[in-house]
Amino acid sequence: MNFTLVVAATEELGIGLRANLPWRIPKDMAFFKEVTTRVPRAFNLPTGTSEPAQNAVIMGRITWESIPAKFRPLDKRTNIVISRNVEFDLQCKDQTVKLVPSIERAFDVIDRSRTPRVFVIGGAQIYREAIKHANCSRILLTRIRSLVDCDTFFPEIDESLFRLASHNELEEFVEAEVVDGILTHKNLDYQFTMYVKR
Ligand SMILES: NC(=O)c1ccc[n+]([C@@H]2O[C@H](COP(=O)([O-])OP(=O)(O)OC[C@H]3O[C@@H](n4cnc5c(N)ncnc54)[C@H](OP(=O)(O)O)[C@@H]3O)[C@@H](O)[C@H]2O)c1
Repeated sequence: MNFTLVVAATEELGIGLRANLPWRIPKDMAFFKEVTTRVPRAFNLPTGTSEPAQNAVIMGRITWESIPAKFRPLDKRTNIVISRNVEFDLQCKDQTVKLVPSIERAFDVIDRSRTPRVFVIGGAQIYREAIKHANCSRILLTRIRSLVDCDTFFPEIDESLFRLASHNELEEFVEAEVVDGILTHKNLDYQFTMYVKR
């Protein structure tokens, strides 16, 4: 089952600082929510399925902990958390959140019949593994075009494996209009981009 990485990163590929996001860009957060939640138009649930179609978001334990408790789990998406500690306390009453010991297990627990899209949403350790996976088919990358101090980094994107897609391709994938070009929030410039597997 193919999956997409979703990330916001600086030109130096910085993504985090002190176990948190180094920035707060409301339009990027809205984009993340919309893209990871939207069920594609062409997706059909098998007849007789009682539960609704829902995308899955896969994340590392540190990223899970970085989400404020009141926003966990990310709503209308199947949340899957990866930790080597099988007894890790998710501190969350929602029984639908799945705790798994590896990326491969994360894919295994997904009910494909009702999961149109799978997104790997970080952090660095998980991206590093996921980007090398044969089923990693695209990267939704919000490029932060300003200098920001970071201590956690996204892996190098190998341009012989991934190509920068056109803005049209990005809009076709997310099935929505996306602002083209550089946007500004406070002192930060940023841009919505997408890479696809060649
Ligand atoms: N800019 C963005 O788009 C973005 C997105 C997401 C996250 N972030 C940032 O990235 C940072 C977090 O990244 P991170 O690399 O420190 O942590 P992470 O990838 O979120 O989580 C790391 C944890 O995942 C588990 N893990 C990793 N590899 C594993 C494997 N192969 N098998 C089983 N479990 C595995 C381990 O959990 P245990 O220790 O429990 O075993 C490990 O400590 C934060 O600053 C966060 O804000 C940024």
